[in-house]
Amino acid sequence: MTAGQQVSAGTDTGSGHGRDAGEELVHRLPALLEALDGKVSGMLQQIGSRSPHRTENGLYDDCRHDWWTSGFWPGMLWLMYGLTGKESYREAAAPWDGRLEQCFVQPSNLHHDVGFQFLPTAVLHYKLLGDSEGRRRGLAAANFLAGRFNLAGRFLRAWNQEKAGWAIIDSCMNLSLLYWASAELADPRFAQIATAHAETVLQHFVRPDGSVCHIVRFDPASGECLEEIGGQGFGPGSAWSRGQAWALYGFANTYRYTGDERFLAASQRIAHHFLACLPDDSVPLWDFRLPEPAGEPKDTSAAACAASGLLELAKLVPYPQNRLYREAASRILLSLTDGFANLASGREDEQGILREGTGHCPEGVNVNVSLIYGDYFYVEALAKAKGWYPDVF
Ligand code: GLY
Repeated sequence: MTAGQQVSAGTDTGSGHGRDAGEELVHRLPALLEALDGKVSGMLQQIGSRSPHRTENGLYDDCRHDWWTSGFWPGMLWLMYGLTGKESYREAAAPWDGRLEQCFVQPSNLHHDVGFQFLPTAVLHYKLLGDSEGRRRGLAAANFLAGRFNLAGRFLRAWNQEKAGWAIIDSCMNLSLLYWASAELADPRFAQIATAHAETVLQHFVRPDGSVCHIVRFDPASGECLEEIGGQGFGPGSAWSRGQAWALYGFANTYRYTGDERFLAASQRIAHHFLACLPDDSVPLWDFRLPEPAGEPKDTSAAACAASGLLELAKLVPYPQNRLYREAASRILLSLTDGFANLASGREDEQGILREGTGHCPEGVNVNVSLIYGDYFYVEALAKAKGWYPDVF
């Protein structure tokens, strides 16, 4: 295994008493990973070469390959290959690079999310096995993403159609594709674009209290910042929980690539706000600022993504700060496992791993379902808890 780093699975708490959440998770990991192997093997039988995005009546769909989530299922298979060494996972994951590349040569709606699509597929394939086609495809995706940079506003534009001035918090997670390309080509242009976008997000999206907004609209010609838009959150001024997780994790990655302390501070501030808002079971509602939260849906995908981001933070800061992040991530993962996960293998009627994901609550779309990215980040976080940091993002 050549990708990522191997770090201690221990919790490094410095305390000699009691079993904290980190220790509890480590204790349970062998059985948990065995159950996960059975579950994902079963999913592979059921899903085959379909492109799952969200479940309906317990069954995963078969989504367009240009949809932003198309990299997560193959990415999960690569993670399982890394965790188990089983060839069946590699064989099922490898063809996805070519399938996704077709979106570049046929009419498609690819946009800012090519990082989500090509980092867990082509680039990970290259990192794990040295696949030169994966490298070529990953670099093509990085060029595409770099081409979306708005020079006047210093942001990567979101989506297509009439939204030339829109930037969104989700793009923080796509920056890793640009940093990877710069390192791969020994060419700073991609990293310069990524850092300029991250600085714009820092200035216009991150609030003093550590919450972030989803969408900011700029004048695409002058670059002037015009307004905040609620997007997938409750509204302007709210705190969409998955958006908080994208930002927490994305800024941690940006610090890892740049060593710039401003981005570490941003990730920590966002993490502290996220943790302060969590309910007792450590799994957030879909927005942290709902006027009437009672009965509102949760979003397990936000919890899983945040857990993986918190483990990233725990690796980036020294003891004793790392304890807070590892403990919080472990609490989230234990709660997801015990309260929201279906790890029984061979269940035809419930293909997803995490229940109670929420895709787009304001539009009432994909609410209280399994989401493939929630499942992916759950697996990625467990890999990190075991000590394998695959550095996908
Ligand atoms: N990137 C879109 C979402 O988080 O739903």
